[in-house]
Amino acid sequence: MYRDTRKHKKHIAKMGIEIDYSYQNRGIGQILMKEIVKFAKQAWKDLELIEVSISGSNKQSIRAHEKFGFKHVAAVPNAIKWKGKYYSEMIMQYRIR
Ligand SMILES: CC(C)(COP(=O)(O)OP(=O)(O)OC[C@H]1O[C@@H](n2cnc3c(N)ncnc32)[C@H](O)[C@@H]1OP(=O)(O)O)[C@@H](O)C(=O)NCCC(=O)NCCS
Repeated sequence: MYRDTRKHKKHIAKMGIEIDYSYQNRGIGQILMKEIVKFAKQAWKDLELIEVSISGSNKQSIRAHEKFGFKHVAAVPNAIKWKGKYYSEMIMQYRIR
């Protein structure tokens, strides 16, 4: 989890979770997100939003974040280039207060 310290960006923290492949799709992502939100709420009283950037091709991650309550706020076309192919990046946010 990363929080920009500049005054105009302090209301948003960015996060990313990576679970070992063999433990994915068992709901562990939901548990981790709940703990991250709990920690962020307690640690930063002026934090309002948690943001994630996910490749548009990563349907599992998009679904896991939607299920938790993250909302789609933007799609950035051509944000990722991998092996000569372009992918969009989905920006999703979760409001904690
Ligand atoms: C993203 C990640 C943290 C989610 O955690 P998780 O424990 O695997 O996720 P959950 O089990 O809570 O939820 C997964 C959901 O995706 C769904 N899903 C799996 N494959 C899917 C696919 N191809 N298309 C659509 N949905 C899919 C599952 O069915 C489940 O939804 P459901 O409960 O409604 O059926 C984990 O998968 C991960 O570490 N992935 C690799 C790294 C990554 O992509 N990190 C995120 C970048 S910010």
